[in-house]
Amino acid sequence: MSDTAETKLYEPPAALAGQAHVSGRAAYDKLVAEAEADYEGYWARLARELVTWKTPFTQVLDQSDAPFFKWFADGTLNVSYNCLDRNIERGLGDKTAIVFEADDGAVTKVTYSELLARVGKLANALKARGVKKGDRVVIYMPMSIEGVVAMQACARIGATHSVVFGGFSAQSLRDRIEDAGAVMVITADEQARGGKHLPLKSIVDEALAMPGTGSIKDVIVYKRTGGNIAWKDGRDLWLHELSAAAPEHCEPEWVGAEHPLFLLYTSGSTGKPKGVQHSTGGYLLHAALTTKWTFDLKPDDVFWCTADIGWVTGHTYITYGPLALGGTEIVFEGVPTYPDAGRFWKMIERHKVTIFYTAPTAIRSLIKAAEANDAVHPKSFDLSSLRILGSVGEPINPAAWEWYHLHVGGGRCPIVDTFWQTETGGHMITPLPGATTLVPGSCTLPFPGITAAIVDETGNDVPNGQGGILVVKKPWPSMIRTIYGDPERFKKSYYPPELKGYYLAGDGAIRDEKTGYFTITGRIDDVLNVSGHRMGTMEIESALVSCTDLVAEAAVVGRPDETTGEAICAFVVLKRPRPTGDEAKAIAKQLRDWVGKEIGPIAKPKDIRFGDNLPKTRSGKIMRRLLRSLAKGEAITQDTSTLENPAILDQLAQTN
Ligand code: WT7
Repeated sequence: MSDTAETKLYEPPAALAGQAHVSGRAAYDKLVAEAEADYEGYWARLARELVTWKTPFTQVLDQSDAPFFKWFADGTLNVSYNCLDRNIERGLGDKTAIVFEADDGAVTKVTYSELLARVGKLANALKARGVKKGDRVVIYMPMSIEGVVAMQACARIGATHSVVFGGFSAQSLRDRIEDAGAVMVITADEQARGGKHLPLKSIVDEALAMPGTGSIKDVIVYKRTGGNIAWKDGRDLWLHELSAAAPEHCEPEWVGAEHPLFLLYTSGSTGKPKGVQHSTGGYLLHAALTTKWTFDLKPDDVFWCTADIGWVTGHTYITYGPLALGGTEIVFEGVPTYPDAGRFWKMIERHKVTIFYTAPTAIRSLIKAAEANDAVHPKSFDLSSLRILGSVGEPINPAAWEWYHLHVGGGRCPIVDTFWQTETGGHMITPLPGATTLVPGSCTLPFPGITAAIVDETGNDVPNGQGGILVVKKPWPSMIRTIYGDPERFKKSYYPPELKGYYLAGDGAIRDEKTGYFTITGRIDDVLNVSGHRMGTMEIESALVSCTDLVAEAAVVGRPDETTGEAICAFVVLKRPRPTGDEAKAIAKQLRDWVGKEIGPIAKPKDIRFGDNLPKTRSGKIMRRLLRSLAKGEAITQDTSTLENPAILDQLAQTN
């Protein structure tokens, strides 16, 4: 982004900056310099300050098996001890840890002592069912206190959790269970969202009826709605019954810093999602540190991250970061538009939220609603409790940024536009609210200690003002450790040989000539970002062609979308003559539902088009650039002389 005369700058508010954990730009620069002067010493200092170790580490960074880096490897700790017991020992036992607001508005609160008791009971119950350190446990839960309890209970006994977002299908759940070799699923009878009850347990039943799931011994069920569900004796167990029978005290399992805390599956550029494996010590450090510095979390704050625990944002900024710091946080079950699009603003007012962290897609859709109806406009609510706003998951366009700043933040709250990824564990490039001058649309500068840079295809630095490939030059504590079960894919995906040993993020970026500020320009691989959800184009293509009765071939591309950032557009060749009119509409719907069943509703293509063929080069390669233009509705200006059948372009330009 060029620093034109129109670019508006937003200085940190003086009062906030004066009190902030990182106070003023000089303080930021000092931290960056400290990390530069003694990289390991910097991280070691913070790891001692923010994490309580059972056995202190003596090693910091171990690069002997690069790119499989190890941090604090001989230290031992327990994450749940750090998030619960430690806060109680510090006198926070009666402090509210979680304020849960259900879909219907009912509020439940738990203190740190209560949360520890619930975690201890479930942890003991898991142990009694034979779950051991290192076992993988799949969590398929609604947004709930129990979801957080389930994750923390796994952490307490050293089991590695793998949370699967409740919107994923039985097939996706099955794939993740099999890949992880999980021994248990923790789920709920149903979830309540937007006034409706949606199935969870029945989807688990469906997944477990598929081959490849024989490793699962038990299914633990949290009773959320009391809806009717099937029950398999000997396999299915009620969470409340198990917990009632279990003792509260559960000695934490002290694990090595590199012990895998969790796997989280995410989309890459091939059809198969990757099980991103995170560590215990390095991950916890960055979760706590970024919560402290990026959100400036203080004892009196009420922190609300609207993400689902099924995504990494929910892991780091709901289950781990805020609790590690002894904060008070909101967990919300529902959706931003129920009972109306004023729900977020109403909840901020009701719970006096001070730090609010959400995704640009949500903001953009709420802008539309607010502009059409004053009753759901932020101005109709008292949002004066807010002091910091955050954005995550996709680029925030300057217009949405300005609206968020003015109407939600009352013009007084800094917006931290946090760039990071499932693989990075926590924030990588982000403003610090008391230190960074903001420029709408820019995620500004690297978090202190993160060596983000922009390079060309051979790993050489490109000058500011010139776009390139976003990399991280040095390993950092919360980085992905491997792809579960596929170390080769880990190396290939993140450490390609031509990039000099730098971590490849998969995004393009550009730095401002004057300020050095980063702007993310979007993925450079075949990964789409729809409403802040990461989707692999190949994954959607595989789902489409698995509809073998109908589909011969499919190609998926993204196109810009005003609300969701990107939208999925699929070009399909059927095994029958190309349909038109109502028939085309009906088949498009059928395919959309098919993808919804194969992957989950978030993967349903917005736009499906049919052709007798796809545009290909002579060697048979699909010309995706042409498809991207067609998806956008642009006239084709590229050279099409190599196309076998140029008439298909007219076919593929037609929407259904
Ligand atoms: C991809 C990672 C970060 C947790 C949620 C998404 C995009 C993320 C930003 C931002 C521009 C962003 C990138 C990244 N992204 N945050 N602030 N500005 N783009 O995690 O599902 O692993 O997706 O989301 O493309 O690579 P994820």
